[in-house]
Amino acid sequence: MRVLDDLSLAGARVLVRVDLNVPMRDGRVSDATRIDRAAPTLSELSDKGAKVIVLSHFGRPKGKVVGEMSLAPLAEPLGAALDRPVAFADMDGAAAAVAAMSGGDVLLLENVRFDPGEEANAPGFARRLAALGDLYVNDAFSCAHRAHASTEALAHLLPNAAGRSLQAELAALEAALAKPKRPVAALVGGAKVSSKLAVLGHLLDKVDQLIIGGGMANTFLFAKGVNVGASLCEADLAGTAREIMARAGTVGCEIVLPVDVVLAAEFKAGADSATVPVDKVPDGMMILDVGPASVRDLTDRLRSCRTLLWNGPLGAFEIAPFDGGTVKVAQAAAALTRAGTLTSVAGGGDTVAALRHAGAADDFTYVSTAGGAFLEWLEGKPLPGIKALEDQ
Ligand code: 3PG
Repeated sequence: MRVLDDLSLAGARVLVRVDLNVPMRDGRVSDATRIDRAAPTLSELSDKGAKVIVLSHFGRPKGKVVGEMSLAPLAEPLGAALDRPVAFADMDGAAAAVAAMSGGDVLLLENVRFDPGEEANAPGFARRLAALGDLYVNDAFSCAHRAHASTEALAHLLPNAAGRSLQAELAALEAALAKPKRPVAALVGGAKVSSKLAVLGHLLDKVDQLIIGGGMANTFLFAKGVNVGASLCEADLAGTAREIMARAGTVGCEIVLPVDVVLAAEFKAGADSATVPVDKVPDGMMILDVGPASVRDLTDRLRSCRTLLWNGPLGAFEIAPFDGGTVKVAQAAAALTRAGTLTSVAGGGDTVAALRHAGAADDFTYVSTAGGAFLEWLEGKPLPGIKALEDQ
């Protein structure tokens, strides 16, 4: 895979796919992490004299122009992050806007998903985009699981390279799973085993300890014959959970489940809660978090690990007091990372929010902003956006 250093940039028109699919509230960006991640590549290209043409999607407009999903409001915050003006054009005005650019200028194009050709990975739309540039840079790992025109087809039409953020992401993921320092633990939490079966199957062969948390742990406990009361549990997957545990035994991966749990009769903020050993859950009560003995157990395990891969919360972290387990284990992982004994890589869906809530995100070795792409990578699936860069 080529990187920016391999491209001749001065004066070149460079189409850069980034992910500006950022959370917005009342028309303003409420979390600028993805803008900040895109900034180094865009600034470097601009500093090196390229004409920087920024491509992104926003939301899921399904091939139609949807006013609320315009990228126009992103031009100003992107400009602030780059410390230079960012112009904006829709596809109809793109050719004229590009023709008017000088080296170093930055132009943001309208949401690529306004054209049905984007999600269809249509050669015609990819050619329209390609006609606007001389080079293509992909810096959007979080979109790499989509075979769309701006993430896949376009890479075949122009000389291409990975951007700095994509490079960093792949290096971090490699350090976590492809060539990790051992022992390596994966912590997989979240509500449902059914949504992470492929993840669990892929990780079994790769990690020394597979820590299962969140609602998923209930299904495993149930499969072992433990009463989980009224907890979220996919009873129909008990057989699958037993197969996973059996396979773990044969490949030498230890499955780690909670030893104590925090319970409540209802899931609401400040609900009365109790902590019990995992085999003492009364009927009618819900498991909503791991307890302090589990936190100690996990912290001890992390102390003897060299690598941690984290996806998904340990409990119902959105609501106190059920955030305690996630917060404490995240803080322990952060402290071990700071101390230099642990490489910690996290990503996917709720994970970034959970680590932020714990105040731990900044101390992790790498936190991916990717949701679906991170999960597909955890499943061991090839990502079309990456493959297209490698194919060249
Ligand atoms: C994301 O938010 O995970 C990426 O921007 C991809 O968005 P999508 O799931 O709509 O393709």
